[in-house]
Amino acid sequence: MDNPKKVLIVANWKSNKTQAEAIDWLSAMSKLKDLDLSNKEIVVCPSFIHLSPMKSYIEDQALPIKLGAQNISSFDEGAYTGEVNGKQIRELADYVLIGHSERRRYVAETEEMLMEKVKMAKQWNLKVIFCADNQNSLIPDGASIVTYEPPNAISPAPADTPENAEKAAKIFKAKAPFEAILYGGSVVSANVSLFLKMSNIDGVLVGKASLDPKEFYEIIQNA
Ligand code: PGA
Repeated sequence: MDNPKKVLIVANWKSNKTQAEAIDWLSAMSKLKDLDLSNKEIVVCPSFIHLSPMKSYIEDQALPIKLGAQNISSFDEGAYTGEVNGKQIRELADYVLIGHSERRRYVAETEEMLMEKVKMAKQWNLKVIFCADNQNSLIPDGASIVTYEPPNAISPAPADTPENAEKAAKIFKAKAPFEAILYGGSVVSANVSLFLKMSNIDGVLVGKASLDPKEFYEIIQNA
């Protein structure tokens, strides 16, 4: 069912897909052009190495898809081997994910690093999608979009309830005038509308279910 509010639907591919698979996915998404997307913004966050070829493909085919990065260096350009900085990302993407629980857990990102990353993203005019583990998580100044994403709701665990997500979204909105609050954690085509019909939830962050273009297309259709 169509939802009257403007919704943001973000695919987080995590560490998945080869370049050929990324382009195949985009090619399967060309039928998005037949949908009414006037109240939907679609963002895909692939690995850094796919941003450039995906940008070219999206522009060539005029696909209604924006790109986001999954990470940003907390440093400016310079002698930081292996880092990808805001200036580089800005050439290719409009959004950046910061604070995902997997990065806190596996590469030990600290609150201090996250604050620096948000600062860098703002400096380069990237829209920050900041992931919060719970309603009490610290949100650095400059984060305009917040995702409520409890780590124990990330697939293969079951999704949180729309009621809990709504409660958290309301708490975030009372803290600061965020542009949008998203829900993330085991979103699929069968449950997306249950989250989006909550009045304070403005979008979804989709991991595993975004990898399959057919399922992601259905998520967009049902949103
Ligand atoms: P999931 O992941 O949809 O596979 O649960 C969401 C996320 O971690 O961003």
